[in-house]
Amino acid sequence: MNKNCNVMILGGNGFIGQNLSRYLSDAGYRVCVFDVRKPEREDPRVRYLTGDFFEDSSIDVLTEGQDVIIHALSTINPGNSNAMYMRGYTRDFVQTIKLFDRLTHTKGRLIFLSSAGTVYGKYPGRPFDESDPLRPINHYGSVKLCVETAMRAFNEQQGTCFMSCRITNPYGPGQDYLKGVGFIDAVVKSILHRQKLEIWGDGSVVRDYIYIEDVCKAMEALLHYEGDMHTFNISTGVGVSQVEIIRLFEKLGFRADVDYQATRSVDVKCSIARNDKMIAATGVVCRPLEQGIRDYLTYLKML
Ligand SMILES: NC(=O)c1ccc[n+]([C@@H]2O[C@H](COP(=O)([O-])OP(=O)(O)OC[C@H]3O[C@@H](n4cnc5c(N)ncnc54)[C@H](O)[C@@H]3O)[C@@H](O)[C@H]2O)c1
Repeated sequence: MNKNCNVMILGGNGFIGQNLSRYLSDAGYRVCVFDVRKPEREDPRVRYLTGDFFEDSSIDVLTEGQDVIIHALSTINPGNSNAMYMRGYTRDFVQTIKLFDRLTHTKGRLIFLSSAGTVYGKYPGRPFDESDPLRPINHYGSVKLCVETAMRAFNEQQGTCFMSCRITNPYGPGQDYLKGVGFIDAVVKSILHRQKLEIWGDGSVVRDYIYIEDVCKAMEALLHYEGDMHTFNISTGVGVSQVEIIRLFEKLGFRADVDYQATRSVDVKCSIARNDKMIAATGVVCRPLEQGIRDYLTYLKML
């Protein structure tokens, strides 16, 4: 795969998709975005296609002439997937299988954005490895697992080249915590708008936060990966609690007004994912959390 290749980002106007489309355009790829909504500002280097992934005719439109499809779309998240699980299984999962079926004919590669924070399930007391058992405790993680399982069968039986990136907790420019995920963005916006910051539980929940540009770097490198692995954690391998994040912001001169609420059953207490395989395959070394928060605040002109 060279930089002349055509990359289609499904859901390319979302948080991760927009960062990827900018990053890959900067790197010289021909980027096309398929999304149900238009971006606030169009990038002249990107070709935008507007449509609904759940209309079957879209599958041809978004695969036509593309070397790689990056699947960056989910209509459910960990917080709402208990209420919306039928949407996850009957729409996201089924339509993704239709896309896989189409790719058995076009032979395009595909990278699916999975979730390290939910696909493994309860924390075994050490960072998750790609070979660990997968026992999601919520439907969002379960739908991701269904897709990953199908990907494996397609790769084995139809000879496709589908990869899964299990991203931990990305943060940075373009995130909107109001969509249901993004603790660091929630802290930033609560400070900016002088609103209370809701934390479910006592702030001891530990996550592996990764700066969005580091996610993009790793995914760009994986476009060229020719090895045997099909699944990668995209992570820092370092866990940080919400209370520690609040302290980091205080160190940078920003105090959040925290409102502690009851714990949510959909959240595992701790989630950290090893990144040895990502580093070996991509060479990407992630920035430390304090640097990433500084970078995000600098982007927002708060520093
Ligand atoms: N953000 C995270 O913390 C995180 C972590 C791990 C994995 N992921 C996964 O990465 C992917 C992207 O996440 P995100 O945070 O960028 O999501 P997002 O909600 O910001 O973006 C999703 C995009 O999909 C588009 N979309 C929704 N329905 C559509 C439809 N029917 N047809 C066409 N486009 C449609 C939306 O308009 C949006 O632009 C998802 O699969 C998500 O599960 C996200």
